[in-house]
Amino acid sequence: MTRCNRRRSGPLDDAGDDRLSPPGRPELQQILERRLGRRDLLAGALRSTALGVGLFAIPTLPVRGATTSGTDRFEFTEIRHGIDGTHHVPPGYEAEVLIRWGDPLFEDAPSFDPDNQSSRAQARQFGYNNDFIGFIPLQRTDDTVTRAVLCVNHEYTNEELMIPRLGPQERTVPPFRDMTAELVGIEMAAHGASLFEIVRVDGRWRVDRAAPRNRRLTVGDTGFAISGPAAGSARMATRADPAGRKVVGTVNNCAGGVTPWGTFLIAEENFNVYFSGDIEATGAEQENHLRYGVPVEWYAWGDFDDRFDISVEPNEPNRFGWVVEVDPHDPASVPVKRTALGRMKHEGARCLASKDGRVAIYMGDDQSFEYLYKFVSHDPVNPDDPSANRDLLDSGTLSVAVFNEDGTVSWKPLVYGQGGLDERNGFTGQADVLIETRRAADILGATPLDRPEDVDGDGLGNVFVLLTYNKAREAAQVDAVNARARNRWGQIIQLHVEGADHAADTCRWSVLVQCGDPKDASVNATWNPATSENGWFSCPDNCAVDHRGRLWVSTDQGMEWKTVSGTADGLWALETEGPRRGTGKMFFRAPVGAELCGPCFSDDDTTLFVAVQHVAADGARDYPGFGRDSSYEDPATRWPDFDPQLPPRPALVAITRRGGGKIG
Ligand code: FEO
Ligand code: CA
Ligand code: CA
Repeated sequence: MTRCNRRRSGPLDDAGDDRLSPPGRPELQQILERRLGRRDLLAGALRSTALGVGLFAIPTLPVRGATTSGTDRFEFTEIRHGIDGTHHVPPGYEAEVLIRWGDPLFEDAPSFDPDNQSSRAQARQFGYNNDFIGFIPLQRTDDTVTRAVLCVNHEYTNEELMIPRLGPQERTVPPFRDMTAELVGIEMAAHGASLFEIVRVDGRWRVDRAAPRNRRLTVGDTGFAISGPAAGSARMATRADPAGRKVVGTVNNCAGGVTPWGTFLIAEENFNVYFSGDIEATGAEQENHLRYGVPVEWYAWGDFDDRFDISVEPNEPNRFGWVVEVDPHDPASVPVKRTALGRMKHEGARCLASKDGRVAIYMGDDQSFEYLYKFVSHDPVNPDDPSANRDLLDSGTLSVAVFNEDGTVSWKPLVYGQGGLDERNGFTGQADVLIETRRAADILGATPLDRPEDVDGDGLGNVFVLLTYNKAREAAQVDAVNARARNRWGQIIQLHVEGADHAADTCRWSVLVQCGDPKDASVNATWNPATSENGWFSCPDNCAVDHRGRLWVSTDQGMEWKTVSGTADGLWALETEGPRRGTGKMFFRAPVGAELCGPCFSDDDTTLFVAVQHVAADGARDYPGFGRDSSYEDPATRWPDFDPQLPPRPALVAITRRGGGKIG
């Protein structure tokens, strides 16, 4: 989310059971294969062994780097830096738009009609600003997945590009002028997530609007349960929910994750921007709210819905900023906000298997000087019965990272009664520790990072942490992991987890690459010299490790694309081991004004899904030949339709190889 970056400074500167039974429930075997396939490919004939001893039984494996030669592991012709109104893929690849903002998700949903938008229609259509993409296979033909369910997050809205005749407006206080209850309703319905089935016919993916799993989650209509240690706390209670156990809506859903038992995790990131009102009226919550940047009044929701006015509902912000678990196989199920995973501006929630069978979830808190967290479940995953894992994420240990100068990481547990997290510091129980995760992490001495964004791992104990940038870091605040002051380019940190023991309280770390222009000595970028003039990038944001254990990184440079790279955002392959470690290679380029999210590989690696977010929006002023802010009537591009009657639209793109085969 970069809109907040450009308008403001300060805290926002970065601103199987019966219920789950068929038809079409993915076989547990398929879930197992999904989680094991990557390790299988890396470690040789592991699959049969691992299946024999349990889902997460990972022996200590040699890291493949020991045998990697200096050859390029990525087989595609690199594309070039640049910027224009459309997307680009390497020769031999096809990129097809799968679904766009406003496309109907159900057989009876209305078609996209931008001149006659309504909250009712939007709640039945694909939402705005697609970010996380989760993929769970449902059917296979031979080795190819032919039906899957996707979960796509809708992070926020760009009204100036959504609503006709609103004009190019700056988000200032008060927010967008001339908002009405119906416009706010459209905004709320455009947030949340879309879950839907896709089918592959003749090699091409299509949305199946008649499929039983199709579902929208929105801010206005969807009820969520609150579970875990903070559920039922008096600090979670509101007039509508005196028990503090249920909440309407999810907001600012950024990246996410897929659990080994086949549910999706969607992360609530910049929840603070939806709240307005008088901070003084929030009494004992005042310090807590300020720590999270509440209120901001970026949206006018508080004027139309008391939930978002902290003067009326001082506890409502405590009910946002969580990781939400949703079961895609039961569209009537109530999604759950899992408080054991902490409250922060959650970028994502990547699940990795720990060697003892438990699940580890790595999570960045995306703001300058915030922290990296890890949740490890108390109990092991039950690989035989998905329903047995239904409440697995309600108990476990949340820890925060301290990066030591000696190349180790110490994970500090956020546990009530330990390390000063007690009455002396105002914590009366674990609910307080979790509601005020940030303050608890402060007390534990966590290492402030350069905006921790997405995280993913290769199943062998290599975990990649993307730090996007931090312009506010001063020279006196530089340390080994955040080595540059006024960091505008970001870096990628690699965690080395011995034996994939993610429950361990320590691991090693190293810098994979400091991003930015390698030709500019003042940037102090650390690319492998094998990197071409198109292979480097700035502002890493989202990532995916494919099923061969290879890292792919997408970028979000925001308004500053021109000065931090001069190229549009995109997707790069990045070597992580061997002599070519730190070599980037450009694969996809987004249209002007867009950041690139997703990315997500199908289980067979034959399709790469990417999410093109806020196309035409960011940095249009610096787009040669355009030179002004985009508006609905006058956008920098009308991707992906290029129809003069239609605005630019965030959309999902499915990338495949002509003639088939694995990506890259
Ligand atoms: Fe929503 Fe931190 O990107
Ligand atoms: Ca982003
Ligand atoms: Ca992001």
